[in-house]
Amino acid sequence: MQELVKLIQEAVIDISNALKFPDTSYSEEKNSSGDTQLKFDVLSDEIITHHLSKSKALKALISEEKEEILKFNENAQFIVAYDPLDGSSLMDVNFAIGSIFAIYKEEVSPKNLKAALYSIYGARLELVCCEGEEVKLYRLNEGGKFDFVKELKMAEKGKINATGGTQKFWDNKHANFIKGLFEEGYRLRYSGAMVSDIHQILLKGGGLFSYPATKDAPNGKLRALFEIFPLAFIIEKAGGATTNGQNASLLELEFHQIHATSPCFFGSEYEINKLLKAYNG
Ligand code: AHG
Ligand code: MN
Ligand code: MN
Repeated sequence: MQELVKLIQEAVIDISNALKFPDTSYSEEKNSSGDTQLKFDVLSDEIITHHLSKSKALKALISEEKEEILKFNENAQFIVAYDPLDGSSLMDVNFAIGSIFAIYKEEVSPKNLKAALYSIYGARLELVCCEGEEVKLYRLNEGGKFDFVKELKMAEKGKINATGGTQKFWDNKHANFIKGLFEEGYRLRYSGAMVSDIHQILLKGGGLFSYPATKDAPNGKLRALFEIFPLAFIIEKAGGATTNGQNASLLELEFHQIHATSPCFFGSEYEINKLLKAYNG
């Protein structure tokens, strides 16, 4: 697995460099979720495939930008599912975006999630990595190597409310819960790149990121294998909590389609408990 982590580091450095002078136009293609692909979504996907395919330990790759599973060594152990560029619709406004990776052993199930990583392409290149129990933040130094910065931990309660989904399609239960958090003093922070919004919550120590079921997207928008599971793994290992609105953890869910979506909530213990009460009476 160490080799895969090293190859992910190489891939995100290449993507970060390519992002400095990008082609931000759209391609002619749509991905499996129906989003029109930016040329940069496709390029990031190619960069990651190029690097990870060097590993003998790689059984298969699952990407937001690939319709099907891409198979490699049948006898190898690891399947990597990834979102090559999360928040790519923000490329034109030069906001921080990132890549998200989940490393599964043998089967694509959250029970088999062995490591989760994400990069942030902001003013700096940062990488958050959780391979065991600790969530570690790294920054790229001037010599092109990642330096360990610190371990990340969630506080029991935060101040940030990152509210996803089209508000006019929220149901009343969700709208009232979100309103309640603002009335308690929570402040709105939402960029539209899940990876950056969750990074902010992790670094500021707490808060809530929500992407609920809505009338226009009854199963939510965010994808389980390469967005929800890796970020839920990181948030929970950092001492936070997650739910789909009913269950005690997003990591209890199982899906059979590689592009499946789910409503999802990530936060500190306090906000997730409050949400479960609001949702379930
Ligand atoms: P992607 O760029 O990989 O398609 O993901 C975008 C996702 C996620 O990053 C973000 O939280 C969400 O879409 C934003 O959606 P809304 O514009 O509906 O808030
Ligand atoms: Mn995404
Ligand atoms: Mn993406």
